[in-house]
Amino acid sequence: MTLPGPLNDFLFGIYPYICLVVLLLGSLIRFDREPYSWKSDSSQVLHNGELKLGSNLFHYGVIVVVLGHFAGFLMPEPLVMWLMSPTQHQLLAMVIGGIAGVIAFIGVSILIHRRLYHRRIRANSRRWDIAIVVMLWLQLALGIATVPLSAQHMDGAMFEQLVAYVQGVVLFHSGNAALVQGVPWVYQLHILLGFTIFLVSPFTRMVHIWSGVGALAYVFRPYQLVRRRGGSGNS
Ligand code: HEM
Ligand code: HEM
Repeated sequence: MTLPGPLNDFLFGIYPYICLVVLLLGSLIRFDREPYSWKSDSSQVLHNGELKLGSNLFHYGVIVVVLGHFAGFLMPEPLVMWLMSPTQHQLLAMVIGGIAGVIAFIGVSILIHRRLYHRRIRANSRRWDIAIVVMLWLQLALGIATVPLSAQHMDGAMFEQLVAYVQGVVLFHSGNAALVQGVPWVYQLHILLGFTIFLVSPFTRMVHIWSGVGALAYVFRPYQLVRRRGGSGNS
């Protein structure tokens, strides 16, 4: 969709940075000032049903999609070109992201059904608990809708243009917004909603994702030193 120039510049050139700043500063401030609210807010104690299936499908799917976005969009261009052609790059995103996206979509649909139609969970849900799952549902639906669109031009040219846009945001390229001017609205809306999810995350249970990533630090933790009380040596 072709947007008026200044609107396109704001939405794709400035808005992403507003969202990223709120995400980083907002998360830091919340961690510092509201440490006891920093949690995934498990609802298992209220109702176990549908949780295992919905949450597992959603989390396995969405983690593959998010890791795929990081690897596929942020890998340096020369490295990608050395590994594969633009067509293969696009095909990889479509197939792996598409399958994982559908799995996550089924999972989040189950979670939404559980949250809206189970009385105790509904009564214990804040407005943001409902809003965030609906936003993720819509984001996955838009993402999946890009797959048949992308299949219509398998030369990989538009895909590489979108990759260049995402890298341009990360690398602070000026005039970057022009890269998404005129691409189909499904991609534009997906990108905008993606950044909006970043924007609202510090105010929701989404902060638990930082902890999920932070848990990786366990792999690199130093050995535990255990001293026997009153003993001389280490054991
Ligand atoms: C990084 C690893 C992650 C871990 C360890 C993790 C863990 C959890 C846990 C323990 C819950 C609570 C489930 C329950 O009700 O008992 C939860 C819920 C949730 N997670 Fe994650 N999560 C991770 C990544 C993600 C990602 C990447 C997203 C989205 C992009 C996400 C979105 C959600 C949402 C929306 C809920 C609430 C679902 C509902 O309405 O019941 N999580 N997560
Ligand atoms: C600012 C954040 C995001 C940006 C810039 C972004 C960008 C994109 C783009 C450009 C595509 C099309 C790729 C193609 O042409 O094949 C895409 C696809 C997709 N996106 Fe996102 N996205 C973001 C966040 C998310 C999130 C949070 C989710 C999941 C909740 C998601 C789920 C998907 C899915 C399922 C697809 C289709 C399969 C694929 O190509 O990976 N995206 N995304």
